[in-house]
Amino acid sequence: MKLAKRVTNRTQIIAFNNSYHGSTQGALSVIGDEYWRNAFRPLLPDVLHVEYNSFESLNEITERTACVIAETIQAEAGIIVPSKEWMQALRKKCDETGTLLILDEIQTGFGRTGKLWGFEHFIQKDSLGNIVPDILLLGKALGGGMPLGAFIADKELMSQLMENPVLGHITTFGGHPVCCAAGMAAMKALLEEGMMNGVKKKEELFRSILVHPKIKAIRSFGLWMALEFDSFETNKKIIDACIHPSTGSGGVLTDWFLFASNCLRISPPLIISDEQVNKACAVLLSSLS
Ligand SMILES: Cc1ncc(COP(=O)(O)O)c(C=O)c1O
Repeated sequence: MKLAKRVTNRTQIIAFNNSYHGSTQGALSVIGDEYWRNAFRPLLPDVLHVEYNSFESLNEITERTACVIAETIQAEAGIIVPSKEWMQALRKKCDETGTLLILDEIQTGFGRTGKLWGFEHFIQKDSLGNIVPDILLLGKALGGGMPLGAFIADKELMSQLMENPVLGHITTFGGHPVCCAAGMAAMKALLEEGMMNGVKKKEELFRSILVHPKIKAIRSFGLWMALEFDSFETNKKIIDACIHPSTGSGGVLTDWFLFASNCLRISPPLIISDEQVNKACAVLLSSLS
């Protein structure tokens, strides 16, 4: 957001309802849920929240807008996948108004969806150029388990943080060599060991087994899915039973979503084997009853 303000010399930031971007004051300012924002006001000024995946929302992006920040696929909303047409239109509107597009790939990045980046699913006419964000946000899998986060932009944009003031964006442990080495090793393994190859098949395997009258809907995108139940109470009982051997077969860690508490999250390591998928699904199904 600092980079977008600096590059565009504008102040307005547009974010989306039900988006999740983290807990710092900056991130909270753009998080798309008033319950989470409210306790820490005042937050950043000139932030506008609009509906995700709505063409009408795009009319709010103008020559006053410094940046639009979006999750490529909304995570905590319970895995909400926007249409290709909307993603394309978002990119186009940002281009037309000179607004920077920031995509948060902290959950969708590094193969979770079956491609290295989530935004690769929204390419049209074989041209990455019409969807690549100006700023890419990375975390979680970036460090292969070590603490590492990053925002990435073209050198031309990024270099604008180097002067006036000098050292305009620094942090003590940024670029920590051990974390970066872990990140490099994780990236190498992800690409060279073909970890993304089986994602689609394993997603299908999950979906083929997880059929039960209590599951109202499944939304998935790669090894990443939301099982929808009738309420948070039902969901919580199932999540607890999955963990505790006394109430279920146990040993399976799942979660709910911050903005979709009636949905159970499945987000296993990409290296999960078919056998482990079968075992986890058996625990889940037995926890349902
Ligand atoms: C989509 C998304 N963006 C941003 C963040 C914030 O990351 P961090 O907690 O490392 O600041 C998270 C963390 O869960 C996230 O899921």
